[in-house]
Amino acid sequence: QHLEMELESIEKGGYEHFMLKEIFEQPRSILDSMRGRMIAESNHMMMAGIREFENKFVNADRILIVACGTSWHAGLVAEYLIEDLARIPVEVEYASEFRYRNPIITEKDIVIAISQSGETADTLAALELAKAKGATIFGICNVVGSSIARATDAGAYTHAGPEIGVASTKAFTAQVTVLTLIAMIIGSKRGTLETTKLHELMVELETIPAKVEQALKLNDQIVEIAEQYKDATNCIYLGRGYNFPVALEGALKLKEISYIHAEGYPAAEMKHGPIALIDEQMPVVVIATKDSSYEKIVSNVQEVKARKGKIIAIVTEGDTTIPAMADHVVEIPETSEHLMPLLSVIPLQLLSYHIAVMRGCNVDQPRNLAKSVTVE
Ligand code: AGP
Repeated sequence: QHLEMELESIEKGGYEHFMLKEIFEQPRSILDSMRGRMIAESNHMMMAGIREFENKFVNADRILIVACGTSWHAGLVAEYLIEDLARIPVEVEYASEFRYRNPIITEKDIVIAISQSGETADTLAALELAKAKGATIFGICNVVGSSIARATDAGAYTHAGPEIGVASTKAFTAQVTVLTLIAMIIGSKRGTLETTKLHELMVELETIPAKVEQALKLNDQIVEIAEQYKDATNCIYLGRGYNFPVALEGALKLKEISYIHAEGYPAAEMKHGPIALIDEQMPVVVIATKDSSYEKIVSNVQEVKARKGKIIAIVTEGDTTIPAMADHVVEIPETSEHLMPLLSVIPLQLLSYHIAVMRGCNVDQPRNLAKSVTVE
Protein backbone atom coordinates (compact mmCIF):
# COMPACT_ATOMS: atom_id res chain seq x y z
CA GLN A 1 0.00 0.00 0.00
CA HIS A 2 2.72 2.41 1.05
CA LEU A 3 4.81 1.43 -1.96
CA GLU A 4 1.83 1.91 -4.24
CA MET A 5 1.26 5.41 -2.91
CA GLU A 6 4.91 6.26 -3.34
CA LEU A 7 4.88 4.97 -6.89
CA GLU A 8 1.86 7.09 -7.68
CA SER A 9 3.46 10.21 -6.31
CA ILE A 10 6.53 9.57 -8.47
CA GLU A 11 4.26 9.16 -11.49
CA LYS A 12 2.66 12.49 -10.70
CA GLY A 13 6.07 14.09 -10.98
CA GLY A 14 5.61 16.37 -7.98
CA TYR A 15 2.14 17.54 -9.01
CA GLU A 16 -0.82 17.03 -6.72
CA HIS A 17 -2.90 15.41 -9.44
CA PHE A 18 -2.37 13.79 -12.81
CA MET A 19 -4.66 16.38 -14.36
CA LEU A 20 -2.45 19.25 -13.26
CA LYS A 21 0.67 17.43 -14.43
CA GLU A 22 -0.95 16.80 -17.79
CA ILE A 23 -2.05 20.43 -18.15
CA PHE A 24 1.54 21.52 -17.52
CA GLU A 25 2.92 18.96 -19.97
CA GLN A 26 1.22 20.63 -22.91
CA PRO A 27 4.13 22.66 -24.27
CA ARG A 28 5.89 19.32 -24.60
CA SER A 29 3.00 17.20 -25.87
CA ILE A 30 2.08 19.77 -28.52
CA LEU A 31 5.69 19.88 -29.67
CA ASP A 32 5.87 16.09 -29.72
CA SER A 33 2.70 15.96 -31.82
CA MET A 34 4.17 18.19 -34.52
CA ARG A 35 7.77 17.04 -34.31
CA GLY A 36 9.03 15.47 -37.53
CA ARG A 37 5.87 16.51 -39.34
CA MET A 38 6.93 19.94 -40.55
CA ILE A 39 10.00 22.07 -41.20
CA ALA A 40 8.96 25.69 -41.47
CA GLU A 41 12.34 26.78 -42.83
CA SER A 42 11.95 24.77 -46.02
CA ASN A 43 8.13 24.91 -46.09
CA HIS A 44 8.02 21.17 -45.82
CA MET A 45 5.28 19.05 -44.26
CA MET A 46 5.05 15.30 -44.03
CA MET A 47 2.63 12.87 -42.49
CA ALA A 48 2.93 9.25 -43.57
CA GLY A 49 -0.74 8.41 -43.03
CA ILE A 50 -1.87 11.27 -45.26
CA ARG A 51 0.70 10.59 -47.96
CA GLU A 52 -0.72 7.12 -48.46
CA PHE A 53 -4.19 8.51 -49.19
CA GLU A 54 -3.16 11.86 -50.60
CA ASN A 55 -5.29 11.62 -53.73
CA LYS A 56 -8.32 10.64 -51.72
CA PHE A 57 -7.89 13.62 -49.43
CA VAL A 58 -7.20 16.04 -52.25
CA ASN A 59 -10.27 14.92 -54.22
CA ALA A 60 -12.62 14.34 -51.30
CA ASP A 61 -16.13 15.77 -51.68
CA ARG A 62 -16.55 15.84 -47.96
CA ILE A 63 -14.97 14.70 -44.72
CA LEU A 64 -16.94 13.21 -41.86
CA ILE A 65 -15.54 13.36 -38.36
CA VAL A 66 -16.80 10.96 -35.68
CA ALA A 67 -15.89 11.19 -32.00
CA CYS A 68 -17.25 11.63 -28.47
CA GLY A 69 -16.75 14.17 -25.69
CA THR A 70 -13.57 16.21 -25.78
CA SER A 71 -12.43 14.44 -28.95
CA TRP A 72 -15.65 15.61 -30.58
CA HIS A 73 -14.72 19.17 -29.59
CA ALA A 74 -11.34 18.72 -31.28
CA GLY A 75 -13.34 17.56 -34.32
CA LEU A 76 -15.31 20.82 -34.27
CA VAL A 77 -12.09 22.83 -34.31
CA ALA A 78 -11.04 20.70 -37.29
CA GLU A 79 -14.25 21.62 -39.10
CA TYR A 80 -13.27 25.29 -38.97
CA LEU A 81 -9.68 24.49 -39.97
CA ILE A 82 -10.37 22.12 -42.85
CA GLU A 83 -13.19 24.18 -44.34
CA ASP A 84 -11.17 27.35 -44.07
CA LEU A 85 -7.76 26.10 -45.20
CA ALA A 86 -8.62 23.18 -47.48
CA ARG A 87 -12.14 24.16 -48.62
CA ILE A 88 -13.60 20.67 -48.18
CA PRO A 89 -17.02 20.43 -46.51
CA VAL A 90 -16.78 18.81 -43.09
CA GLU A 91 -19.48 17.26 -40.92
CA VAL A 92 -18.73 16.55 -37.28
CA GLU A 93 -20.82 13.81 -35.76
CA TYR A 94 -21.39 12.40 -32.31
CA ALA A 95 -20.39 8.79 -32.92
CA SER A 96 -23.36 7.57 -30.85
CA GLU A 97 -25.89 9.40 -33.03
CA PHE A 98 -24.18 8.75 -36.32
CA ARG A 99 -24.09 4.98 -35.90
CA TYR A 100 -27.81 4.65 -35.26
CA ARG A 101 -29.04 7.19 -37.79
CA ASN A 102 -28.81 5.23 -41.02
CA PRO A 103 -26.33 7.86 -42.26
CA ILE A 104 -25.51 8.40 -45.92
CA ILE A 105 -21.95 7.26 -46.53
CA THR A 106 -20.30 6.63 -49.87
CA GLU A 107 -16.98 5.26 -51.07
CA LYS A 108 -15.87 8.80 -51.82
CA ASP A 109 -16.16 9.82 -48.17
CA ILE A 110 -13.29 10.14 -45.80
CA VAL A 111 -14.16 9.49 -42.19
CA ILE A 112 -11.83 10.73 -39.49
CA ALA A 113 -12.27 9.01 -36.12
CA ILE A 114 -10.75 10.91 -33.20
CA SER A 115 -10.12 9.15 -29.89
CA GLN A 116 -7.58 9.54 -27.12
CA SER A 117 -8.01 6.00 -25.78
CA GLY A 118 -8.78 4.40 -29.12
CA GLU A 119 -11.27 2.23 -27.25
CA THR A 120 -14.48 4.29 -27.18
CA ALA A 121 -17.23 1.85 -28.14
CA ASP A 122 -19.44 4.29 -30.05
CA THR A 123 -16.54 5.73 -32.04
CA LEU A 124 -15.33 2.27 -32.94
CA ALA A 125 -18.82 1.17 -34.03
CA ALA A 126 -19.29 4.37 -36.08
CA LEU A 127 -16.10 3.80 -38.00
CA GLU A 128 -16.89 0.11 -38.57
CA LEU A 129 -20.21 1.17 -40.05
CA ALA A 130 -18.54 3.68 -42.38
CA LYS A 131 -15.93 1.13 -43.33
CA ALA A 132 -18.59 -1.40 -44.28
CA LYS A 133 -20.04 1.21 -46.66
CA GLY A 134 -16.68 1.63 -48.34
CA ALA A 135 -15.48 4.94 -46.90
CA THR A 136 -11.79 5.54 -46.21
CA ILE A 137 -11.19 5.58 -42.47
CA PHE A 138 -8.50 7.76 -40.95
CA GLY A 139 -7.74 7.56 -37.24
CA ILE A 140 -6.33 10.08 -34.80
CA CYS A 141 -5.55 8.20 -31.61
CA ASN A 142 -3.24 8.64 -28.68
CA VAL A 143 -2.94 5.05 -27.55
CA VAL A 144 -0.71 3.09 -29.88
CA GLY A 145 -2.16 -0.20 -31.08
CA SER A 146 -5.61 0.57 -29.65
CA SER A 147 -8.77 -0.91 -31.21
CA ILE A 148 -9.62 2.22 -33.20
CA ALA A 149 -6.04 2.64 -34.41
CA ARG A 150 -6.10 -0.96 -35.64
CA ALA A 151 -9.49 -0.65 -37.33
CA THR A 152 -8.54 2.33 -39.53
CA ASP A 153 -7.05 2.34 -43.05
CA ALA A 154 -4.47 4.96 -42.07
CA GLY A 155 -3.93 7.51 -39.37
CA ALA A 156 -1.71 9.82 -37.40
CA TYR A 157 -0.97 9.36 -33.74
CA THR A 158 -1.09 12.20 -31.26
CA HIS A 159 2.07 12.07 -29.18
CA ALA A 160 0.58 13.33 -25.94
CA GLY A 161 2.00 10.49 -23.85
CA PRO A 162 -0.20 8.59 -21.39
CA GLU A 163 -3.18 10.59 -20.15
CA ILE A 164 -4.30 9.32 -16.74
CA GLY A 165 -6.70 12.03 -15.52
CA VAL A 166 -10.24 11.29 -16.64
CA ALA A 167 -10.61 14.89 -17.80
CA SER A 168 -8.87 15.11 -21.14
CA THR A 169 -6.43 18.00 -21.43
CA LYS A 170 -3.17 17.33 -23.21
CA ALA A 171 -4.87 14.82 -25.52
CA PHE A 172 -7.19 17.61 -26.73
CA THR A 173 -4.38 20.01 -27.62
CA ALA A 174 -2.44 17.18 -29.26
CA GLN A 175 -5.49 16.29 -31.35
CA VAL A 176 -5.95 19.91 -32.39
CA THR A 177 -2.25 20.11 -33.31
CA VAL A 178 -2.43 17.04 -35.54
CA LEU A 179 -5.71 18.18 -37.13
CA THR A 180 -4.15 21.59 -37.84
CA LEU A 181 -1.25 19.91 -39.63
CA ILE A 182 -3.69 17.80 -41.63
CA ALA A 183 -5.73 20.84 -42.68
CA MET A 184 -2.52 22.61 -43.70
CA ILE A 185 -1.24 19.63 -45.70
CA ILE A 186 -4.50 19.10 -47.57
CA GLY A 187 -4.92 22.83 -48.11
CA SER A 188 -1.50 23.17 -49.65
CA LYS A 189 -1.94 20.09 -51.85
CA ARG A 190 -5.30 21.34 -53.05
CA GLY A 191 -3.92 24.80 -53.69
CA THR A 192 -6.46 26.44 -51.40
CA LEU A 193 -3.72 27.47 -48.97
CA GLU A 194 -1.09 29.65 -50.63
CA THR A 195 2.56 28.97 -49.98
CA THR A 196 3.11 32.24 -48.16
CA LYS A 197 0.12 31.70 -45.90
CA LEU A 198 1.21 28.11 -45.29
CA HIS A 199 4.66 29.31 -44.33
CA GLU A 200 3.25 31.92 -41.96
CA LEU A 201 1.12 29.29 -40.25
CA MET A 202 4.05 26.91 -39.90
CA VAL A 203 6.21 29.60 -38.35
CA GLU A 204 3.38 30.53 -36.00
CA LEU A 205 2.70 26.91 -35.07
CA GLU A 206 6.33 26.54 -34.06
CA THR A 207 5.87 29.33 -31.51
CA ILE A 208 2.84 27.67 -29.89
CA PRO A 209 4.67 25.52 -27.29
CA ALA A 210 6.39 28.65 -25.91
CA LYS A 211 3.10 30.55 -25.91
CA VAL A 212 1.39 27.70 -24.05
CA GLU A 213 4.22 27.91 -21.53
CA GLN A 214 3.41 31.60 -21.16
CA ALA A 215 -0.31 30.87 -20.74
CA LEU A 216 0.50 28.39 -17.96
CA LYS A 217 2.02 31.27 -16.01
CA LEU A 218 -1.56 32.46 -15.51
CA ASN A 219 -2.00 29.69 -12.96
CA ASP A 220 -1.81 31.93 -9.87
CA GLN A 221 -4.23 34.42 -11.30
CA ILE A 222 -6.65 31.61 -12.15
CA VAL A 223 -6.46 30.34 -8.55
CA GLU A 224 -7.73 33.76 -7.41
CA ILE A 225 -10.61 33.66 -9.88
CA ALA A 226 -11.46 30.09 -8.87
CA GLU A 227 -11.63 31.23 -5.22
CA GLN A 228 -14.42 33.62 -6.13
CA TYR A 229 -16.53 31.22 -8.17
CA LYS A 230 -15.99 27.90 -6.47
CA ASP A 231 -19.48 28.00 -4.94
CA ALA A 232 -21.28 28.82 -8.15
CA THR A 233 -24.10 26.48 -9.12
CA ASN A 234 -24.11 27.37 -12.81
CA CYS A 235 -21.71 28.77 -15.34
CA ILE A 236 -21.94 29.79 -18.99
CA TYR A 237 -19.09 29.67 -21.51
CA LEU A 238 -19.26 31.73 -24.69
CA GLY A 239 -17.08 31.82 -27.79
CA ARG A 240 -17.38 32.43 -31.51
CA GLY A 241 -15.57 30.97 -34.51
CA TYR A 242 -12.53 28.97 -33.54
CA ASN A 243 -13.28 29.67 -29.88
CA PHE A 244 -16.79 28.23 -30.00
CA PRO A 245 -15.60 24.62 -29.59
CA VAL A 246 -13.31 25.88 -26.83
CA ALA A 247 -16.36 27.24 -24.98
CA LEU A 248 -17.95 23.78 -25.18
CA GLU A 249 -14.74 22.20 -23.96
CA GLY A 250 -14.39 24.64 -21.04
CA ALA A 251 -17.95 23.85 -19.93
CA LEU A 252 -17.40 20.09 -20.20
CA LYS A 253 -14.22 20.32 -18.12
CA LEU A 254 -16.01 22.25 -15.39
CA LYS A 255 -19.03 19.96 -15.17
CA GLU A 256 -17.15 16.68 -15.24
CA ILE A 257 -14.72 17.42 -12.43
CA SER A 258 -16.40 20.06 -10.26
CA TYR A 259 -20.05 18.96 -10.74
CA ILE A 260 -21.07 22.55 -11.39
CA HIS A 261 -23.69 22.81 -14.10
CA ALA A 262 -22.09 24.51 -17.07
CA GLU A 263 -23.16 25.24 -20.63
CA GLY A 264 -21.08 26.24 -23.61
CA TYR A 265 -22.67 28.28 -26.39
CA PRO A 266 -21.75 30.10 -29.55
CA ALA A 267 -21.99 33.64 -28.17
CA ALA A 268 -24.57 34.79 -30.70
CA GLU A 269 -26.96 31.97 -29.74
CA MET A 270 -27.35 33.56 -26.33
CA LYS A 271 -30.16 35.80 -27.45
CA HIS A 272 -32.11 32.74 -28.59
CA GLY A 273 -32.66 31.50 -25.06
CA PRO A 274 -29.75 31.26 -22.64
CA ILE A 275 -29.62 35.01 -22.07
CA ALA A 276 -32.68 34.52 -19.85
CA LEU A 277 -30.41 32.74 -17.37
CA ILE A 278 -28.14 35.71 -16.86
CA ASP A 279 -28.37 37.65 -13.62
CA GLU A 280 -25.85 38.98 -11.08
CA GLN A 281 -25.25 35.43 -9.83
CA MET A 282 -24.19 33.98 -13.15
CA PRO A 283 -20.50 33.63 -14.02
CA VAL A 284 -20.01 33.95 -17.77
CA VAL A 285 -16.67 32.92 -19.20
CA VAL A 286 -16.19 34.68 -22.53
CA ILE A 287 -13.39 33.74 -24.87
CA ALA A 288 -12.93 36.98 -26.74
CA THR A 289 -9.52 36.96 -28.37
CA LYS A 290 -8.56 39.24 -31.26
CA ASP A 291 -9.78 37.47 -34.37
CA SER A 292 -12.25 37.89 -37.20
CA SER A 293 -15.24 37.67 -34.85
CA TYR A 294 -13.83 40.05 -32.23
CA GLU A 295 -16.15 42.99 -32.98
CA LYS A 296 -19.14 40.68 -32.82
CA ILE A 297 -18.19 39.22 -29.48
CA VAL A 298 -17.66 42.68 -28.02
CA SER A 299 -21.37 43.27 -28.46
CA ASN A 300 -22.17 39.89 -26.90
CA VAL A 301 -20.11 40.89 -23.86
CA GLN A 302 -22.11 44.13 -23.68
CA GLU A 303 -25.32 42.10 -23.65
CA VAL A 304 -24.06 40.05 -20.69
CA LYS A 305 -22.88 43.17 -18.92
CA ALA A 306 -26.27 44.85 -19.33
CA ARG A 307 -27.82 41.91 -17.46
CA LYS A 308 -25.20 42.14 -14.69
CA GLY A 309 -23.61 38.75 -15.38
CA LYS A 310 -20.14 38.26 -13.89
CA ILE A 311 -17.75 38.35 -16.81
CA ILE A 312 -14.55 36.35 -16.84
CA ALA A 313 -12.91 37.29 -20.12
CA ILE A 314 -10.12 35.48 -21.91
CA VAL A 315 -8.54 38.14 -24.14
CA THR A 316 -5.51 38.75 -26.30
CA GLU A 317 -2.65 40.52 -24.55
CA GLY A 318 -2.97 44.27 -24.79
CA ASP A 319 -6.72 44.36 -25.45
CA THR A 320 -8.41 47.30 -23.74
CA THR A 321 -12.01 47.17 -25.00
CA ILE A 322 -13.18 43.94 -23.35
CA PRO A 323 -11.25 44.56 -20.10
CA ALA A 324 -13.21 47.78 -19.66
CA MET A 325 -16.39 45.70 -19.35
CA ALA A 326 -15.18 42.53 -17.66
CA ASP A 327 -15.00 41.61 -13.96
CA HIS A 328 -11.90 39.47 -14.52
CA VAL A 329 -9.45 39.58 -17.40
CA VAL A 330 -7.15 36.76 -18.36
CA GLU A 331 -4.62 37.74 -21.01
CA ILE A 332 -3.20 35.14 -23.36
CA PRO A 333 -0.56 35.62 -26.08
CA GLU A 334 -1.51 36.69 -29.56
CA THR A 335 -1.59 34.13 -32.37
CA SER A 336 -3.33 33.34 -35.65
CA GLU A 337 -7.02 32.59 -35.10
CA HIS A 338 -6.44 29.15 -36.63
CA LEU A 339 -4.21 28.25 -33.71
CA MET A 340 -6.00 30.10 -30.93
CA PRO A 341 -7.81 27.05 -29.44
CA LEU A 342 -4.41 25.70 -28.44
CA LEU A 343 -3.93 28.74 -26.20
CA SER A 344 -7.45 29.74 -25.20
CA VAL A 345 -8.26 26.32 -23.74
CA ILE A 346 -5.38 26.50 -21.24
CA PRO A 347 -6.92 28.97 -18.73
CA LEU A 348 -10.21 27.06 -18.92
CA GLN A 349 -8.51 23.79 -18.03
CA LEU A 350 -6.81 25.49 -15.08
CA LEU A 351 -10.04 27.15 -13.95
CA SER A 352 -11.96 23.88 -13.82
CA TYR A 353 -9.06 22.14 -12.10
CA HIS A 354 -8.75 24.69 -9.30
CA ILE A 355 -12.48 25.01 -8.74
CA ALA A 356 -12.79 21.22 -8.48
CA VAL A 357 -9.89 20.97 -6.02
CA MET A 358 -11.37 23.77 -3.88
CA ARG A 359 -14.68 21.92 -3.80
CA GLY A 360 -12.92 18.80 -2.57
CA CYS A 361 -13.70 16.77 -5.67
CA ASN A 362 -11.73 13.79 -6.87
CA VAL A 363 -10.20 15.54 -9.84
CA ASP A 364 -8.46 12.60 -11.47
CA GLN A 365 -11.36 10.20 -11.03
CA PRO A 366 -14.63 12.10 -11.01
CA ARG A 367 -17.76 10.27 -9.97
CA ASN A 368 -19.67 8.19 -12.54
CA LEU A 369 -16.93 8.54 -15.18
CA ALA A 370 -14.37 6.20 -16.69
CA LYS A 371 -11.27 7.10 -18.67
CA SER A 372 -12.37 5.08 -21.63
CA VAL A 373 -15.99 4.39 -22.31
CA THR A 374 -15.96 0.87 -23.73
CA VAL A 375 -19.70 0.34 -23.35
CA GLU A 376 -22.30 2.16 -25.39
C1 AGP B 1 -13.17 14.36 -21.56
O1 AGP B 1 -12.67 15.12 -20.54
C2 AGP B 1 -13.98 13.20 -21.20
N1 AGP B 1 -13.52 12.46 -20.11
C3 AGP B 1 -14.63 12.43 -22.35
O2 AGP B 1 -15.54 13.32 -22.92
C4 AGP B 1 -13.75 11.83 -23.46
O3 AGP B 1 -13.17 12.84 -24.21
C5 AGP B 1 -14.61 10.91 -24.33
O4 AGP B 1 -15.09 9.84 -23.54
C6 AGP B 1 -13.90 10.38 -25.54
O5 AGP B 1 -12.83 9.57 -25.21
P1 AGP B 1 -11.77 9.13 -26.27
O6 AGP B 1 -11.09 10.33 -26.77
O7 AGP B 1 -10.85 8.20 -25.54
O8 AGP B 1 -12.50 8.42 -27.38
